[in-house]
Formats: sequence, C-alpha cells, structure tokens
Amino acid sequence: MDISLVGLGHIGKAVVGILNENHEYFKSKFNADIRVISVSDSRNTIYDKNGLNLDKVLMYKERKELDEVAEVIGMDEIYSLHSDIIVDMSPATKDGIAGMKMYTGAFEAGKHVVTSNKAPLALHWNEIMESSLKNRKKILYESSVGGGVPLFNLNKYSLKSSKLLEFRGQVSSTINFVLNQMIAGVDFHEAIKTAQNMGIAETDYRDDTNGLDGARKTVIIANALLGKDYTLKDVAYEGIDNIKDINYMKNSGEVYRVLSHITGGKDPVVESKIFTIKQEDPVASMDSLSMGYLERTDNNDDLTVFEKHDGPLETAAQVVNDILLLS
Ligand SMILES: NC(=O)c1ccc[n+]([C@@H]2O[C@H](COP(=O)([O-])OP(=O)(O)OC[C@H]3O[C@@H](n4cnc5c(N)ncnc54)[C@H](OP(=O)(O)O)[C@@H]3O)[C@@H](O)[C@H]2O)c1
Repeated sequence: MDISLVGLGHIGKAVVGILNENHEYFKSKFNADIRVISVSDSRNTIYDKNGLNLDKVLMYKERKELDEVAEVIGMDEIYSLHSDIIVDMSPATKDGIAGMKMYTGAFEAGKHVVTSNKAPLALHWNEIMESSLKNRKKILYESSVGGGVPLFNLNKYSLKSSKLLEFRGQVSSTINFVLNQMIAGVDFHEAIKTAQNMGIAETDYRDDTNGLDGARKTVIIANALLGKDYTLKDVAYEGIDNIKDINYMKNSGEVYRVLSHITGGKDPVVESKIFTIKQEDPVASMDSLSMGYLERTDNNDDLTVFEKHDGPLETAAQVVNDILLLS
C-alpha cells in the first residue's frame, strides 16, 4: 500500500509518527506494508518511489528543509504517482473547492481518499460521493468529525440494523472549552488565548467561535448517518461570539454545551447550537475537552461513546485506522 500525504501540520506529523513507529507492527498484524511515497506541505511536495524515510521527513520538516529529503515534484503530480491512497490533512478552505478537486482528481486517477478536512465534505458532499461511486474508489473521513471518537465506522459496521432516532454530539472542543471558561468568569479573549496556548484553537479561531466549524461537522454527520446530501445551507447553527445571557448561565448552575443535534424521521432536525444539559444526562459526564456523542436508535438502544481528552494524536490515530481499513 503506497500513500501520498497532503498536509504536514499537527495531524500530518502525528500520522507520519504513527506510521513510522508501527510499520513492522502493521505489517505483522494486518499484512499491511504501508509506504509513504510523497508528502506535501504548503510549499513543497517531495517524492521517493521506494518510500520516504519518515524519520528524515519529521526532522527536516522541523528545520523547514523538507525539500532536502527527496526529489521535489509539483503538487499536481501526485495524481500520476503510483499511490493507492491520497490522504488529505490540509486546512479547511472557505469554499472547500480545492479539497473537492483533490478528491475527484484522486478517484479519476484510480486512488482512494482518506481525509480529516471537513470543508469539502460539508460543501460538496454530492459531487464527491458521486465521483467516488462512478470511479469505484472509496473515501473514508472518520477523523473529520469528533477527533479520535469512532463515529462513522461504528455506525457503518456495527449499527446497520438500527435506524437513527436522535444524535446529540459534542464534536467541537474549542467552542466548548471557551464557552466553559466564559461561564467560569474568564473573558472571551483570555479564554481564546488559553485555548491557543493549549494547541486546541487555531490562530484564526473565528470559524470555531461563530459556529461554522460545528455546522460543517453537523452536515457531515447528518449526511453519513441519514444518507442525505445536505450542505451548510441546511443547518441551523449558532456560535458563542455574541451570547447575551452569559450572566444568567454563570449563575444557573447548569451545564451548557454546543452540540450537533440531528433527528431521524420524515422531517429531520439538523442543527448545531447551545444546549442546557441536565446533570443526569450522560452528555453531562463529558468535560468541555472531551469528544463524544449520545445516539438513540430503535434496535440498539441508546449508545454513549466518548473519549476523555482529544488532540492531534487521537485524530491522527483515526486517519491511520482509515488507511488500514483501505489496505
Ligand atoms: N487539529 C485537530 O485536532 C483536528 C481534528 C480534526 C480534524 N482536523 C482537520 O485536519 C486538517 C489538518 O489539521 P491540522 O491541525 O494538522 O492543521 P495545521 O497544523 O494547520 O496543518 C496544515 C498542514 O497543511 C499544509 N498546507 C496548507 N495549505 C496547503 C496546500 N495548499 N497544499 C498542501 N498542504 C497545505 C500546511 O503546510 P505548512 O506546514 O507549510 O504550513 C500544514 O502542513 C484540517 O482540515 C483540520 O480542520 C484537525
């Protein structure tokens, strides 16, 4: 299995680390000999037909000398390489078009796609899935929502015989961490600064705090779980930029979380907004840095799945899991 990686930031570097450390383990356990033949960041794409030396990739990336590791090629050349999968770990763009073109280009070139990038899926679900179907190539996107928590694969493989009644998920850590801090009396900008220092908020945090990031995730969950082709236009969402009743929230003693909320049935609800959570609700047991969800189904009862802490390593582990599923 030869793969091309696009993006070598928090997630990309963690994926390279997991693949590097576990190469022999994956080979002996799954018979998966995974070679990374190209890696791209915003400036360079490097390529070695026999597989890149991953220690060197990480070391030279740190020194900002990625172009010293191997042959430098154009980003567009990755489609003509002999890779089986293109793995997208590049940043979300406003219109998601670059990602959509990357995926359809990969399918047309006979490659599967693994992605942690939400924007193309939230904005161009239909085009991407049609191209995947037409070219008989797969796209796996477990890491795009909920970090390390299994959601799409769990639904796809373990809940086939059930219908979704309701989904409530805490799938965005930045917005929930900042909201929690504000309720504890911390100023919005101070809370953002703390979140950035912890590595959970991006430099441009606005898509997180205005609710767009949560809306993108909600579209993907609804499409995957309900078999729809919604886009951002179909989601009602709110952020925490202009909360009017923060003083009320501070004094109420209740738990508040921004959740993706989706219902099944004839007229599904698809929204991402602030919920008041009762103490006895399983969702209240997640802290603001947890990722997880409660799913009500007809035949599998109510499932609660969550992880205590989420970060780049957990997300990267899901990227690698998708690569292993395809292998
Ligand atoms: N961080 C998380 O916990 C998390 C969780 C779930 C999903 N995601 C998603 O996963 C993706 C990656 O996240 P991240 O935290 O790793 O982001 P990041 O740290 O900002 O890294 C992004 C990487 O993509 C590269 N890049 C930027 N533009 C590119 C382009 N046009 N072509 C090729 N590479 C390009 C950057 O290059 P340079 O190194 O040269 O800047 C960088 O290496 C994002 O879509 C994010 O929303 C992240």
